[in-house]
Amino acid sequence: HQVPLEMHKVRIVQKLFLPTVEERLKKMNEAGNNTFLLQNKDIFIDMLTDSGVNAMSDNQQAAMFQADDSYAGSETCNRLKKAIKDTMGLEHFLPAHQGRACENILAEAFVKPGQVVLTNFHFTTTKAHITRVGGSMIELVAAKGLDPVTDDPFKGDFDIDELKKTIAELGTEKIAFLRIETGTNLIGGQPVSMANMLEVARICKEAGIMTVMDASLLQDNLYFIKVREEAYKNKSILDITHELCAAMDITYFSARKLGFARGGCICSNDNELIRKMMEYVPLFEGFLTYGGMEVRSMEAIAVGLYETMDEEIINQGPIFIEYLAKELHEYGVPVVLPAGGLGVHLNASEFFPNMSHGEYPAGALGAAMYIAGGIRGMERGTISEQREPDGSERYAELELLRLACPRRVFTLSQLKYVADRVKWVWDNREIIGGLKFVEEPAVLRFFFGRLAPI
Ligand code: F0G
Repeated sequence: HQVPLEMHKVRIVQKLFLPTVEERLKKMNEAGNNTFLLQNKDIFIDMLTDSGVNAMSDNQQAAMFQADDSYAGSETCNRLKKAIKDTMGLEHFLPAHQGRACENILAEAFVKPGQVVLTNFHFTTTKAHITRVGGSMIELVAAKGLDPVTDDPFKGDFDIDELKKTIAELGTEKIAFLRIETGTNLIGGQPVSMANMLEVARICKEAGIMTVMDASLLQDNLYFIKVREEAYKNKSILDITHELCAAMDITYFSARKLGFARGGCICSNDNELIRKMMEYVPLFEGFLTYGGMEVRSMEAIAVGLYETMDEEIINQGPIFIEYLAKELHEYGVPVVLPAGGLGVHLNASEFFPNMSHGEYPAGALGAAMYIAGGIRGMERGTISEQREPDGSERYAELELLRLACPRRVFTLSQLKYVADRVKWVWDNREIIGGLKFVEEPAVLRFFFGRLAPI
């Protein structure tokens, strides 16, 4: 099939090391079979995440040199503000140190105990902040989103009927806000269609419910709208972005993903909403001109946002991901299809059909991938869930091992190496067993928890 082309050349490189299989086995044991606890020096291909590890462009690096350090009234802040206005069409923004810091502020400002946040699908940090202030989340993703293999182009879509029913049942008072996650992370980086998002926004407006878009994975979603949604194929990425952001009350993002940099932003055209969140920025983050971000990062975000409007830049993630997904699928390896953004997602439930959720199949596959190839993925299954208030396990809808493709970082030959190692693990899957926790933190356990073979 079609070979994807890198639309950039490499100008700064980092040396990689490939430890022997004996060393990898030892390191995985030492890391408690949790890929988060591995050291980078022991990893050959790091596919843990696309967060804060995307390659920057020459123009981003150049912009970082002109960062303005002044505490108040910094030109860097003005440049970022202008970039948000130019690309998203949004007038006001609040800075925060990263995406979850935006979520903390949103939860503090808008979620009261007992209230509910409606969403297509939760993200780990979002849910942790909402539940921390006494709220909960209801997921309304259409059934197709949880089907690992379909040919539906927009598996992140909301189930519109379910949305209407839920609003009618709960009543507006009980709903803190509705959150749209573009490029739905935990179900495989699956995009949401423009038609669906605009319809959801319309329904919320009519019902008097605030809409919040998590645009962390918007870049891939924009590309998918452009190439998969007929009505938008002749629209520019810029026009699509403007139309989408205009339909939302609040747009926030992790700039570790959107903008190829580091940091976080909450944006809106509604100054009243901004005022309700503003006081939390100096309290938790830093002064309103930087919010805990390094000025150099803010310069990089500004340039990164403009670059995100370029289709030949934002197609680089999706086309390489699609290549790897196809390569694996054709060999018979179970992957989430159609390929989404963010990375390739291996379906661990199909690797180990006899393993229960409680034996953490996606965690086991993650440990195996490292041992077999020095490749670090991220468990996106039951380990990434949090236990119910009564302590029982909450089984994940999908047991996935995510092999993230940080943008512009890996070459085609590196992805071919990954494909080769995944195929080996697939062929030898019967030698892999389940895991159990030996150390289990109460919150976000997937970061620090340690596991051992059952
Ligand atoms: N929202 C989404 C959709 C995300 O994917 C992330 C982070 C966040 C919010 C939080 O942003 O990390 O800057 O605090 N996702 C990373 C990942 C961690 O690896 O998928 P953050």
